[in-house]
Amino acid sequence: MSFDAVDVIRTKRDRRELSDAQIDWTIGAYTEGVIAEEQMSALAMAILLNGMTRREVARWTDAMLRSGERMDWSGLSRPTTDKHSTGGVGDKITLPLAPTVAACGAAVPQLSGRGLGHTGGTLDKLESIPGWRASLSNEEMLAVLDRTGAVVCAAGSGLAPADRKLYALRDVTGTVESIPLIASSIMSKKIAEGTGALVLDVKAGSGAFMKSVVHARELARTMVDIGTDHGVRTVALLTAMDTPLGRTVGNALEVDESVEVLAGGGPEDVVELTVALAREMLAAAGLTDAKDPADALRDGSAMDVWRTMISAQGGDPDAPLPVAKETHEVLAAESGVLSRLDAYGVGVAAWRLGAGRARKEDPVAHAAGIVLHAKPGDLVRAGQPLMTLHADDPERFERALAALDGAVEIGEREDARRPLILERIA
Ligand code: URA
Repeated sequence: MSFDAVDVIRTKRDRRELSDAQIDWTIGAYTEGVIAEEQMSALAMAILLNGMTRREVARWTDAMLRSGERMDWSGLSRPTTDKHSTGGVGDKITLPLAPTVAACGAAVPQLSGRGLGHTGGTLDKLESIPGWRASLSNEEMLAVLDRTGAVVCAAGSGLAPADRKLYALRDVTGTVESIPLIASSIMSKKIAEGTGALVLDVKAGSGAFMKSVVHARELARTMVDIGTDHGVRTVALLTAMDTPLGRTVGNALEVDESVEVLAGGGPEDVVELTVALAREMLAAAGLTDAKDPADALRDGSAMDVWRTMISAQGGDPDAPLPVAKETHEVLAAESGVLSRLDAYGVGVAAWRLGAGRARKEDPVAHAAGIVLHAKPGDLVRAGQPLMTLHADDPERFERALAALDGAVEIGEREDARRPLILERIA
């Protein structure tokens, strides 16, 4: 069935519902270049302003999913389960999580992306390991998954091509921040990845995409509904992103910290979230009698999977990670309690040091980033180092320091802190 793009735009502009046939035609015609970019940007803006019903979002996701291939892991002996995070500062959780869940008996087929803006990307972090390769063929992916229980690699261009085109358009037309468009974009890729179960880590706070819990909850609800409507057992945790996760921000620095967690140590918040998400992933996969993820971290079995998983993709788990040429310490201006350490400010500072990219095609500096020596609630003394900035180019320190202006507060007591895990949505 064929429609007129202007009629489809008018339907949404006038707050009416798009029919299934209109949605299918729109996504197909846009992917094939029949709908012009300016028409799709008008429609995306109408969706941003007027929203979509649950049926419309489900159909929109389905049409994007059908624009490309869908992976099939049915030949594996273990059930598949995956996690998606909406992105935060210092969010390295995938690195310890995937091998931990594999060590407990599930298979984790994780197709990841690179970072854009102030939040980092899992592939950028793993690429700081000498030799590690993000691009695998479908056959290689299956072989690594079958042998090690976890594969983390780049999503191929065959997965939801309609989303790739639409996301690039939204990025330059002020239409990224639409809950139906974000939810359908993420879920079309995750469902195409072929996982049987999915746990969403939806972040709320200054360092997250969604600043308020109300919006994060709505995004989580929309994504859980889409997953459920497509037969993927989907659960979401709403988690706080007011302050960075762990004590490192930046690619190689975060790999280092992840290895500490896999060795049974590491910062409390990273361990707490890794274990909570791993338990959810195993439960969603139906593995209710599985080994507990906290034990897999303690007994070295998660570390064993990490080492085989990294080696299977050409990486050397024992190779030294890149180290920045220059460092700069940020000192506490006064004594007291570190009452605030703002995730967004730290994320932007790490990005300006070279840890992130401004445009898709930019390279990242693997050694750049920030090591935090104090977290909210810690007592600090005037003159004590609060954090160390790492960069290859010392000229970057000034702009990074400007991003930290107002991000650090020292007071008499800590501001009321939210728990890390705020809500569970199923
Ligand atoms: N990540 C995605 O993949 N899509 C969005 O729309 C936003 C974040």
